[in-house]
Amino acid sequence: MLPWWGWVLIGFGVWIIFTVIVDLTQRKHAIIRNFPLIGRLRYIFEGFGAPLRQYLFQGDLGERPFTRLQRTWVYRTAKGMNDTISFGTQIDQDAPGVIKFNPAPFPTLDLHANNEMAPVIIGAERKQPYKVSHIVNISGMSFGALSKNAVLALSKGAKLSGCYMSTGEGSLSPYHLEGGGDICYQLGPAKFGCRNPDHTLDKAKFKELAALPNVKMIEIKLAQGAKPGKGGVLPREKVTTEIARIRGIPMGEDCHSPNRHVEFSDVAGLMKFVNEVRDLADGKPVGIKCVLGGEDFVREIARYLRDNNDGPDFMQIDGAEGGTGAAPMSFADHIGISLQEALVITDNMLREYGVRDQIVIIGSGRIVTGAEAAIALGLGADLCLVARGFMFALGCIQALQCNTNHCPTGVATQSKWLMRGLDPTDKSARVANYAKALHKDVMAISRALGLQDPSEIGREHMSMIVEPGRRVALTEIYPSSMKAFRETRVLRRPATPAA
Ligand SMILES: Cc1cc2nc3c(=O)[nH]c(=O)nc-3n(C[C@H](O)[C@H](O)[C@H](O)COP(=O)(O)O)c2cc1C
Repeated sequence: MLPWWGWVLIGFGVWIIFTVIVDLTQRKHAIIRNFPLIGRLRYIFEGFGAPLRQYLFQGDLGERPFTRLQRTWVYRTAKGMNDTISFGTQIDQDAPGVIKFNPAPFPTLDLHANNEMAPVIIGAERKQPYKVSHIVNISGMSFGALSKNAVLALSKGAKLSGCYMSTGEGSLSPYHLEGGGDICYQLGPAKFGCRNPDHTLDKAKFKELAALPNVKMIEIKLAQGAKPGKGGVLPREKVTTEIARIRGIPMGEDCHSPNRHVEFSDVAGLMKFVNEVRDLADGKPVGIKCVLGGEDFVREIARYLRDNNDGPDFMQIDGAEGGTGAAPMSFADHIGISLQEALVITDNMLREYGVRDQIVIIGSGRIVTGAEAAIALGLGADLCLVARGFMFALGCIQALQCNTNHCPTGVATQSKWLMRGLDPTDKSARVANYAKALHKDVMAISRALGLQDPSEIGREHMSMIVEPGRRVALTEIYPSSMKAFRETRVLRRPATPAA
C-alpha cells in the first residue's frame, strides 16, 4: 500500500507532465513554448515584481507617480501624527526644475497672522454665489471609479474639514449626499444621471439635481489631465447594478463617455451652454474643467469674458500629470500641458484681457503637499483641487490597480469583499485631518514669505533651479504679460459679501 505522500508525489508528477505538454503545444506565449514549465516563472515574478520593488527595493524617492516620502507625509498627516521630518531634506536641491520659495527676512509673526484665509467667492455676481474657505478641495473621482465606502468617507471628510468635493463624472450618489459636505456637481460629456439617450442634457433631471442644497456649483468637464480628448472609461467589472442605475447605463459592458459634449464644438457654443446650465441651476456658479494645449483656447475665453462681461465663473486647469481611474498610456504620458505652465498661461491671458477678477482659477495635477499647493497658488491659481492625495488619506497604497477592480485597499474597487476593509467613519477623520494639514501648511508657507494670506503668494516669491548652483527668479522664467500685475491680483477675491 502506497503512503499518502506517495500519492502526492504521483499527482505532482502527473501535473508536471500535463503542464509540460500544455506548454509545448500552446501557441500564445513563446517563452513558455520554448521553456516549458520554467517559462511560467517569468509571469509569476512579473506579478510579484511591482509590490516587491515597492516594499523592499525602491528608495524613498524612487516610486512613481508619487514618492514614498510624499505618500508618507499624507499618511502621517491623515492619521494626525507628527508630520515633521528629521535630519534635513532628501530632495536634490540642485536638480533643474526644483522650485524654491524666497523666505522673508522677517516672516509674518504668527501672533499677527490671520488664522483663516480670505474666502474665495465663486460667481460673486450670480444669484447663488459660493464662498470657498478652504485652499485645497477634493477633485472629481466618480462613484464607480471609487467604491461607495470611499465616496462616503470623502463626503464626510469634506463636511468635517469644510472643504468641498466634486462628484466626478459618475453623477451624484446617495454617498455623496450622506456626508453632508458641499458638492460641486460634475457634468461630463456623458451627462450621467441626467442624460438623454443621444448624450444631450435631460434638462428636467439636471434641474432636480442642481437644486439640491448641497450642490453649490456645477463644473462642465471638457477634459481631465490624464486623458484629454478621450472620454472616461469604467471597465465592465466595476459596473454594478447600483452604478448602472445612478448613471443610467447598461450592465455587462465597459462604460465609455464620449470624448466631448455633443452640444457645442467651439468657444461660442461652450459659452452658450455655460449660460444655459447656469439658468437651469438657478444661478449657481458654473465653471469648466479643462486641459490646455496652448494659449488659443484661454485667449478666446478671455476675449469672450471681456466682450460680454459673462462666461464661466471658474476654470479648473488640470495638468497633464493628473491622475485617472483608467486611461490609455499614450494619453496619460503625452497629451496636454503640465499644471505649472498651464496656470501661467491662464493667469497671464486673463490679466492681458483685463478679466482676471471675473473668474476663479483652480489648479490640479499631482499636488499632495502644502508646498505643491502653494506653488500652484503662486503661479496663478486661487484654489487647488487634489484627487490622489485624498486617495492616500483613504489608505491607497499606490498599487496601480484602479482599472482592474482589484484595488487591495477598497478605495478604487466595487468588490464588496475588498471595500469591506475601508471603514468610512475612520477614514473620513483621516480625510479631514489631511485636508486641514494641507491648509495649515499653505498658511504657514505664506507667513514664512512675509505675507498675511495665501492669495498674496506670487511668482515674485519663487525661483527655479535651472542648473546646479544657479537659480533664476520665476518672474524671469514666467514673466507676466500684463503691466498692472499687482493691481489685478487683489481683485481676485471680490469684497462683496456672499451668502
Ligand atoms: C481614481 C480617479 C478617478 C477620477 N475620476 C475623474 C472623473 O470622474 N472626472 C474628472 O474630471 N476627473 C477625474 N479624475 C481626475 C481628478 O479629478 C484630477 O483632475 C486629477 O487626478 C489631478 O489630480 P491629482 O493629481 O491630485 O490626482 C480622477 C482621478 C482619479 C485618480
